Amino acid sequence: MAGGHQGQGWTSRWGFLLATVGSAVGLGSIWKFPYMVGANGGGAFVFVYLLALAVIVFPVLLAEFVIGRAGGKSAVGSLQDVAARHGGTRAWGLLGLWSIVAGILILSFYSVIGGWTIAYIPLAAQGAFAGQTGEQVAGIFNALLADPNRLILFHAIFMTLTAVTVALGITNGLERAVTILMPLLFLIMIGLVVFAAATTGLGKAAAFMFTPDFSKITPKIVLDAIGLGFFSISVGMGVMITYAAYSGREINLTEIAVATIAGDTFVSFLAGFAIFPLVFAYNLDPAGGPGLMFVTLPVAFAQMEWGTVVGAAFFILLLVSALASALSLLELIVSYAVERNVNRVVAALGGGLFCFVLGLATVYSFNEWSTWFPLAGVPGMEAKTAFDLIDFLTSNIMLTVGGVLIAVFVGWVMPSGAVAETLGVRNGASVGLLNFLLRIVCPLALAAVLWAGLFLTGGGGGG
Ligand code: TRP
Repeated sequence: MAGGHQGQGWTSRWGFLLATVGSAVGLGSIWKFPYMVGANGGGAFVFVYLLALAVIVFPVLLAEFVIGRAGGKSAVGSLQDVAARHGGTRAWGLLGLWSIVAGILILSFYSVIGGWTIAYIPLAAQGAFAGQTGEQVAGIFNALLADPNRLILFHAIFMTLTAVTVALGITNGLERAVTILMPLLFLIMIGLVVFAAATTGLGKAAAFMFTPDFSKITPKIVLDAIGLGFFSISVGMGVMITYAAYSGREINLTEIAVATIAGDTFVSFLAGFAIFPLVFAYNLDPAGGPGLMFVTLPVAFAQMEWGTVVGAAFFILLLVSALASALSLLELIVSYAVERNVNRVVAALGGGLFCFVLGLATVYSFNEWSTWFPLAGVPGMEAKTAFDLIDFLTSNIMLTVGGVLIAVFVGWVMPSGAVAETLGVRNGASVGLLNFLLRIVCPLALAAVLWAGLFLTGGGGGG
């Protein structure tokens, strides 16, 4: 979408909002948020996550919007031009290369998990879950994970869908489809929440998610929460720079930033309230890890009157929203290659193939390599599989470092007058607050959390 198509700006505020929400809402909210909350002990993690969204992710998202609107180009071009305009170095464009590496790594595992949703469509439609207990559903999921060939097949299908859509340049078409289908996904999820609320697990789920045990907050949990915030909102690698570059000037960027974060967080909480009541009602393990959604929601489908239809529809819609997010990742890579005069089809198919091959490390992390811990000698990393490490490296390190640099760029390189003018904000107090967050809070907090999360990992278990 944005990036490859000159002149295809978003004409309306609504279109721009749907595009940012389309990139943000995906597996991050529905798959990753619940399992991270579960693995990190519940309320304390939720509390830190919400705080991180307000104090760090929101200002950095606004900063990306500012760079995009001021630069009017891709992430690399906008950073270079805006830096040069304000006496900075064009080397800021290197940040764009950093994000391309992050995008490649994220897409490699994103596609494997996207493949799980594809695998679940026929299972749900054929009634494989009907009448099954929690344990039996977990058995179906574990059988999928244990079979690398099935995982590779579905990973290949997901990546092909992504790459072909980008190669044909029809990402706009798919984005448009998402805008129609996403409300349907919300509806099904609301239905799932209503279903889950009727079980005996609701009280426990609410207590689990909303009673923060502050003694559980470790540097590792804070780093995980910030990393998830960046990942889930698609912030920290310049995707949102490109989006803002193509938006009409009359659009209020602050409003869009608030609405994007609110919408994505709404979906994350819907997922939490669809999943955790079932976890407690059916004695599943909240700390079950990346499989959490895939072993709990089918239990709901198993018990429902129209479970096969609702289940299949849910996984189809989840697939579409995951594809829309994957597109934004591949498009980032392809638009850069196209700028360097690589043919679009070659770039999309080549990039997709490359990410597919890298994704095999994630595939094998769930079976043949499940006991291979590449950084076994490093404290805090000793129990991380290849997939865990790629996820940690991208969300917790690459996106947060990208986030610091973006904050520093807008906070220190751009004059605050230019920032205020780009945002169209005239209120001195809010400009001052944004400046304070970008100049001081984000860099210091992120540097401290990165340092502590990486080197003070002694006590923090889990994950
Ligand atoms: N935000 C998406 C999700 O939650 C994933 C994603 C898409 C992303 N584009 C991104 C993450 C860019 C970081 C940067 O599923």
